[in-house]
Formats: sequence, structure tokens, C-alpha cells
Amino acid sequence: MKILDGKAVALKRRQQLTAKITKIVEQGHRRPTLAVILVGNDEASQVYVKHKTQIAQAVGIEPLTIHLDENVSHEQLYGTIDQLNLDQTIDGILLQLPLPTRFREEDYLQAIIPSKDVDGFHYVHQGKMLQGYDSIYPCTPLGVINLLNEYQIPIQGQNVVMVGTSNIVGKPLAVMLLNLGATVTMCNQNTQDIKMYTQTADILISATGKQFIITKEMVKPQATVIDIGIMRDLKTNKLVGDVDYDNVAPITSNITPVPGGVGPMTVITLMENTFKLYQDHLQS
Ligand code: GUN
Repeated sequence: MKILDGKAVALKRRQQLTAKITKIVEQGHRRPTLAVILVGNDEASQVYVKHKTQIAQAVGIEPLTIHLDENVSHEQLYGTIDQLNLDQTIDGILLQLPLPTRFREEDYLQAIIPSKDVDGFHYVHQGKMLQGYDSIYPCTPLGVINLLNEYQIPIQGQNVVMVGTSNIVGKPLAVMLLNLGATVTMCNQNTQDIKMYTQTADILISATGKQFIITKEMVKPQATVIDIGIMRDLKTNKLVGDVDYDNVAPITSNITPVPGGVGPMTVITLMENTFKLYQDHLQS
């Protein structure tokens, strides 16, 4: 059993990205800039945003955090996005989710112009992705693909089972794996016998946010297991995932830990996406 060390892979990619940014800045160009909009006081979001800011700084990306009050008006939020859309010094805009429930998230995500949409959530990016064209791909799915590639885990011709169908993770990751030649099965809340599908998986990916939903009986021996869930176990106060790691890990060939698996890959991919947009902006 091999542990897929997302933390180490992310650190390696961080050094590579830092070197690229240093070189361009030494040539006299401005630094890439990433704007993060945070609305309200969701505790987990505040921790994530702080972490993203720190990693941005570490690689040489200028972070700009815009923290808006819980009670901000719709017009003010649109206005903030518009201002960042027009600002020539901003390369990437990230609207931290979830927004307070009175906002329709998709309206604001679609207000970010595609050339600054660092999450790849705009319909233009999603459409390109669906049809297999180069695009900005959402950070967690692309981070997972990069992690599989780093460990030379084959994708083409493999049976992948995706548990969870969110717009942020499950759906885009399924499409990306399909485009890479995998046979992809998607399970959702209405799937009657999830185990019947998961037992066929060469690569089993879970992104539900439900603690320990993936048990040993659901996993084919020697499978690769990717855990995208992260939550705090209320009994032990430790961070855990969707996968019952202690019981599942011994029968797998590869598995991601929580924490230190997919999470760090998501954050470095956000920086790589920012850099990709920055390069496009320098050329235009
Ligand atoms: N909240 C949780 N995950 C994400 C993500 O990938 N992007 C944004 N914008 N917000 C999130």
C-alpha cells in the first residue's frame, strides 16, 4: 500500500511554480495577482482563505483579500466583482463558497469574466472542458489528476467510480477522467446499491463530505482510493475524510490520507491556474 503524499507533491510543484514566477519577475514583469472575495464569517472559509493567501505569497503571487460583510447588498457584491473584472492588475478572481444562502451562487460565479475565472466555474470553461478542449479546470479535480499522474497511476482504460456529483468536484472530475479515457461511473444520493459499483473500481473517488461513507467492504482489493472529503471527527476532534481510512488503507494499492492528500493539491492548483491566467494576460 502506497500513501499518495499530496503534501509532498504540492510542495514540489510549489517550488517549480516559484521558480517560474521569479524568472518572469526578474525579466521586469509585474507579479501575478489573485483576488479572493470572502463574504461573511464562515469559519472554515476564513481558514481556507488565510491559507490560500499564505501559499500565494510563498510562490510570489500577490494576494488581495476582499472581506465583505455578511449583510453586503447584491449590488455591492456585483460591484466588487465588476471592479476586479476591469482592474488590469488582477489576474485571477476567486469567490469563496459557500456564500450566505440569500445569494444565488451561480449568478455571481458567472459574473466573473472567464479570463479571470481561476476556479474554472464559468460556463465557457465548463463547456470547453466537456468537449475536451484546453481550459481552466476546477482546482480540486485538476489537483487529483496531477496527483495520479505524479504517481504514474494509469487512467486510460481504468474503471473509475466517482461517489458525489457536486459542480465543484464530482461532475468536473468525472468529465476530465472520461476525456482521459477512463470508464467512469457516477454514484449519487439516489444510487440504490453504491457498493455494487464501488466494488468494480480500479480508482475509487469519494467527494461527499460524509464521514466514513466508504467502508472496506465497498473497495476492490488493490484499488486506488482518493478521498476528497474533509471534516472534523466530533469524538476525536481529528480531521477525517469520506473513507474509513484505518480499515480501507491496508487492502488498497494507493490511497490519499486526510489531511495531506487532496487538500494541498487543490491549493497549489489554484496557484497554477492563477499563473496560467497571468501568462495569458501578459501576452494580450
Ligand atoms: N469552497 C470550497 N471549495 C471551493 C472551491 O474550489 N472554490 C471556491 N471558490 N470556493 C470553494
